Amino acid sequence: MNVESQYSLIFNAKPRWLVRGPGRVNLLGEHVDYNGGPVLPAAIDQAVWIAADVSKSELITLHALDLKEKITFAAEGLEKKLDINGRPLPTWAQYPAGVAWILSQNGYKIEGIQAVYSSNIPMGSGLSSSAAIEVAFAALWQMISGWDCDRLRLAQLCQKAENEYVGVACGIMDQFATACGVKDHALYFDTRSFEWYPIPLPKDTVIVIADSGMRRSLTHSAYNERRAACEEAVRLLKKFKPDITSLRDISPTEFAAYGEYLPALIKKRAEHVVKEIARVESAVNALRRDDTESFGALMFAGHASLRDYYEVSIPEIDVLVSLARNLPGCIGARMTGGGFGGCTVNLVWAAQVNDFIDGLERGYLEKTGKQAKVYVCHASEGTSVTCI
Ligand code: GLA
Repeated sequence: MNVESQYSLIFNAKPRWLVRGPGRVNLLGEHVDYNGGPVLPAAIDQAVWIAADVSKSELITLHALDLKEKITFAAEGLEKKLDINGRPLPTWAQYPAGVAWILSQNGYKIEGIQAVYSSNIPMGSGLSSSAAIEVAFAALWQMISGWDCDRLRLAQLCQKAENEYVGVACGIMDQFATACGVKDHALYFDTRSFEWYPIPLPKDTVIVIADSGMRRSLTHSAYNERRAACEEAVRLLKKFKPDITSLRDISPTEFAAYGEYLPALIKKRAEHVVKEIARVESAVNALRRDDTESFGALMFAGHASLRDYYEVSIPEIDVLVSLARNLPGCIGARMTGGGFGGCTVNLVWAAQVNDFIDGLERGYLEKTGKQAKVYVCHASEGTSVTCI
């Protein structure tokens, strides 16, 4: 949907600002961002687009075009989560409202705006459509008022909005990736030190995203259960290493020694995290020495661990990964994002991508009777705001 023309139709004026907020895919480092581990995401072509201008009324009026919904709320008193008519804000509106709330709380000026937005990031697919919306609105308010705040801090504020306002206990990876994306690069991001740098993706490869079409409810409670298991593992492992504050502090060797003392389920969860953290470090080394084959093997190993130890995959996603393994051009494949449905990410040799996609679509239909949506993706720049 073209947000500029929709804006003109709705507000009978031309928009002044155009914002692009990309989704993200994670190549490796799943479920480690709330354990202080390193992640390896990339921002993608699919994005949310906002057309906006300052409003005369000082209120915030938003039209979510894809949902065919609109809302108006005031920048003050947002802690009550009500619109101007005193009605509770629906969940979709809590994302931008939460951003306005956290920014004001931290002393950043929020102008009243009127905006329309639309996204081609499939919702609930594990490609971070919510983080894209949050950071896009934060960057818009920043551009309008001109306050100083670097991208990493903006991402942290948006994560806080999602945790404290919307009530979703996510880590920082998604907001970081959409805020800081670099064209043609994956992003190595250490979620403990906040150090990060872009790494070029292997030459002659493309990222292919396959959407299983499956969406699960109860994702939030399962996510919180996994977080709680990690915290419990840390608590129990302190007996052996009193100074640890997260699973990041336990090496695979230490885990081999002490993990045996953990209850079976906690051990499985922690084992995924400890080894996934090690896989990210190995993957970065593989990329540096142009060892695409090892990188792909680490992606497959990451998937097996999410399936068998962390137990956040589903049969349809496992079908996509095992099909990919035997298709032409496939370097590596795994589920991406929080899990329980959504998408796989595949690293594929560019020259064979058409055969790969054909085979994946055909195989998925044959095995599950369902249609997968498959996209070729490029690592893209992070959120941008343009004056038009
Ligand atoms: C969701 C969360 C992220 C991260 C991933 C799993 O996308 O929002 O913070 O925890 O799951 O890696």
